[in-house]
Amino acid sequence: MALDRSELIKALTLDDFTPYYQMADEMRRRKKGNEVKIRAIIEISNICARYCTYCGLNAANAKVHRYRMPENEIIETARRAVSVGYKTIVLQSGEDPGLDIEEIGRIIRDIKAMGEIAVTLSLGELDEKEYRYFKECGADRYLLKHETSDPKLYGRLHPDSDLETRIENLRTIKRLGYETGSGFMIGLPGQTVESLADDLLLLKTLGCDMAGMGPFISHPDTPLRGNGHGDTEMTKRVVALARLLLPDANLPVTTALGVLSQKERLEAFSCGANVVMRKTTPDPYRKYYEIYPADIPSADIPGDRLALEKMLDEIGRKGV
Ligand code: 5AD
Repeated sequence: MALDRSELIKALTLDDFTPYYQMADEMRRRKKGNEVKIRAIIEISNICARYCTYCGLNAANAKVHRYRMPENEIIETARRAVSVGYKTIVLQSGEDPGLDIEEIGRIIRDIKAMGEIAVTLSLGELDEKEYRYFKECGADRYLLKHETSDPKLYGRLHPDSDLETRIENLRTIKRLGYETGSGFMIGLPGQTVESLADDLLLLKTLGCDMAGMGPFISHPDTPLRGNGHGDTEMTKRVVALARLLLPDANLPVTTALGVLSQKERLEAFSCGANVVMRKTTPDPYRKYYEIYPADIPSADIPGDRLALEKMLDEIGRKGV
């Protein structure tokens, strides 16, 4: 099995993908065992300077109530997540030009002082000196999805940026020693199967340690309103091929897949995925962090974690 571009394209369009699902599940079991890593996400700010046409938080969307969580509430939320067993805290935000870099640095240090906790950042594109500063403060990982490897499509979706800059940022993050996460969306308007194959190959070229792939879901308050959502079967295929291309990577089942289909979210754990992220953002903020339309229940950090562990138990996996 070469898993070169032409095999990837062929696999993505097969009538029956079952053999690849089986190989991916076997590879996951061999490399990652039965554990599913559960990460806590705290959405610390939904303020964003970017105009990404798919995203509900894009700067042009005046309907969003914007917030930036105060430092003490971020720390308090992290403490609560750690107290119910989370070992990774993901700090996520829009590209918020008002984020106080030194304050984030303090938050990273405070969380690291809570125990053997990994801190993942997902704050968009920063300057190299900021990535470096956060690394010095103790941040372990950085998530910055490349979104699509098709440069023309990337340009259309991101009127204020380009793919080259994105890739440059990812290379900087990797060079600074972060565990590096990329990922992309499936089913973007104008996306081709060929470009999905290139997306997968780009993960490999970048040497990604993590990759999150989810279906595009059209948001009514964005320029891409009215487009159909991404195909869930295609999403699972992409995850399976990512497992075969990057045997050691941490691959989450994305929340977006669960929004479209609870059943397929569960199935994705048998397609190569070994990670799941949970929103632990407190009320009232959590409902304002709406990247794509979703039902957002009020916060219950311990209850939510227990329910997830139970669900994983039922499919023979162990949440850690
Ligand atoms: N549908 C699916 N995923 C989306 N994202 C942003 N907007 C959407 C959408 N409409 C994903 C992007 C981004 C992450 C925060 O969420 O991949 O990197």
